[in-house]
Amino acid sequence: MSRFWTKTVSGLTPYIPGEQPASHSLLKLNTNEHALPPSDAVMEAIRSSQAEQLRRYPDPTAKGLREAIAQVESLAPDQVFVGNGSDEVLAHIWLSLLAGRPVQTLDTTYGFYPVWAQLYQSALTEVPVLADFSVDVEALMASEQAVVLANPNAPTGLALSREEIERLLADSPDRLVIVDEAYYGFGADTVAPLIDRYDNLIVSRSLSKSHALAGLRVGYALAHQDLIEGLNRVKDSFNSYPLDVVAQAAAKVAILDTLWQEQSAAVITESRKRMTEGLEVLGFEVLPSSANFLFIRHRAISGRKLFDGLRQHDILVRRWDKPRVEQWLRITVGTVAQTESLLAACAPLCRADDA
Ligand SMILES: Cc1ncc(COP(=O)(O)O)c(C=O)c1O
Repeated sequence: MSRFWTKTVSGLTPYIPGEQPASHSLLKLNTNEHALPPSDAVMEAIRSSQAEQLRRYPDPTAKGLREAIAQVESLAPDQVFVGNGSDEVLAHIWLSLLAGRPVQTLDTTYGFYPVWAQLYQSALTEVPVLADFSVDVEALMASEQAVVLANPNAPTGLALSREEIERLLADSPDRLVIVDEAYYGFGADTVAPLIDRYDNLIVSRSLSKSHALAGLRVGYALAHQDLIEGLNRVKDSFNSYPLDVVAQAAAKVAILDTLWQEQSAAVITESRKRMTEGLEVLGFEVLPSSANFLFIRHRAISGRKLFDGLRQHDILVRRWDKPRVEQWLRITVGTVAQTESLLAACAPLCRADDA
């Protein structure tokens, strides 16, 4: 606390990201990074960056990367915005389209949304998810306010269908719908194909999960060009060069390598299936996930006890001290070998409770 802080800064409750331990001996299943390394082509693009490129500023418009995204999504480049991770993209969406306005989200969703609402002074309504954690679309439709949804949702992993989100869009053309597809690629429908039909839709994506590039910090948004222009106005009033030259080059290669993305996602979905089966045998309730993580609760053992027990086995998972989810753990889907280690660590914890 400093007497020089502004009122806004004094009142902030910042987002707390999952732990990034210095030690590599921990099995890190707490922040939903992709279990596989990035593609060889991406690593080659990173290695081949030249001193001359680094001496200069990068392209402030990231034209090559936006064109690549537009090509893959069958959109025009001016319907694409890129930023330093989708967190930055979402923050710019908030400032350009939601600041000072009422916004609805869910009571069980990504913890950054209330932080941006506070930072940008939006009155936030947190609409409760149903008892099974599914989204109450009717409840969201009861108001004209803008909606921010993660799809699949985090931390639950549950996904809405494209038709359900289209209902929200079609019901009122003046309701802005922001769909955070950070976990795109692991099984959920995308609403990107609706962009040409709805100018009240904005889709945010991340290369952190689907492309195994959390460390590179690249995210993007897809929307009607007028919405994208609003985002560019914010970006150019904040930081003209959010993506460095290496990130732009590597992200472009990653985006165009759709085969790698599909094949690596297939490895994760297969591992997710085995992890689900293994956990169910141990007495866990597992929500059906369309993401690269599972949301689980044990029928007999508390979330806190499991979290601590796994930590003692050098396994990091995520848990929140919040009433609706305190008994639940969110666990990243690892490789099959990592899943075996997780199950081996869970087994005695579950047995100890039976005794
Ligand atoms: C729902 C959701 N949205 C956005 C993000 C931010 O992703 P990034 O900034 O790495 O692109 C995350 C990260 O975990 C997330 O879970």
